[in-house]
Amino acid sequence: MNKIKLTNQPAPIGVFDSGFGGLSILREIRKVLPEYDYIFLGDNARAPYGSRSFTLVYEYTLQAVQHLFEQGCSLVILACNTASAKALRTIQQHDLPIIDNSRRVLGVIRPTVEKVGEISKNGHIGIFGTPATIQSESYDIEISKMQPSFKVYGHACPMWVPLVENKESDGPGADYFVKKDIEALLSQCREIDTVILGCTHYPLLVNKIKKYMPKSVHIIEQGGIVAESLKDYLHRHPEMEQRCSKGGTCEYFTTEDAEKFSEMGSIFVNEKINAKHVTL
Ligand code: DGL
Repeated sequence: MNKIKLTNQPAPIGVFDSGFGGLSILREIRKVLPEYDYIFLGDNARAPYGSRSFTLVYEYTLQAVQHLFEQGCSLVILACNTASAKALRTIQQHDLPIIDNSRRVLGVIRPTVEKVGEISKNGHIGIFGTPATIQSESYDIEISKMQPSFKVYGHACPMWVPLVENKESDGPGADYFVKKDIEALLSQCREIDTVILGCTHYPLLVNKIKKYMPKSVHIIEQGGIVAESLKDYLHRHPEMEQRCSKGGTCEYFTTEDAEKFSEMGSIFVNEKINAKHVTL
């Protein structure tokens, strides 16, 4: 990673995901913090990340972070569990000191885990995630630090992201896979009382998930949690808050076709968007 020339002018907050899923986080962040400017970047051309190796997820995520820094962002949110699980720590510890130590990259796993203790009554926690997130055991590790007595059961859902990315989240294919994966998770432990949707694409399947999940199980979606955690972070870090510009705007970039992204993205954020294409 080369050192690049970066400006320190107030600039938008960068929000990154492998594809559309991060829009579920951005939407909630903008509800809680509407006054800031945002740049969303979706690496749709290379999604899904969830079945890729550590090295590739790290490499792609670093390219995206670097791009957002070059656009002026001082703060970047990895609105992607896979990138948070596989790339965040290395970027924070290895790359930021080389690129610019005053910039920050934050993920979505830690804020989500902080909520689990407040929600679960019996300490049996289910995690749905991409194969990469489940295999990283990031949730197990973080939960065991905060709630050592809790038991964590992970289940990878490799078909859920492709269903969302291919506009099939309301179709019968989604019913089939969601039902099957819920059964697979609950067959590990019938006492699970809380399930984390540990992938930012999954809230787009929440209607199907609620249809097949027993009503007694609490489903944790990350958007609101990450938004509140970001609000708290900015409050605790006024030096960073001052570097985030306030104009209430949001720009969208995708590594795939801009028109396709705009059409689909508009549905997710409930407003018309005009994305631009970018090459990383
Ligand atoms: N939305 C991402 C996540 O939260 C990853 C989806 C993917 O690209 O596999 O894990």
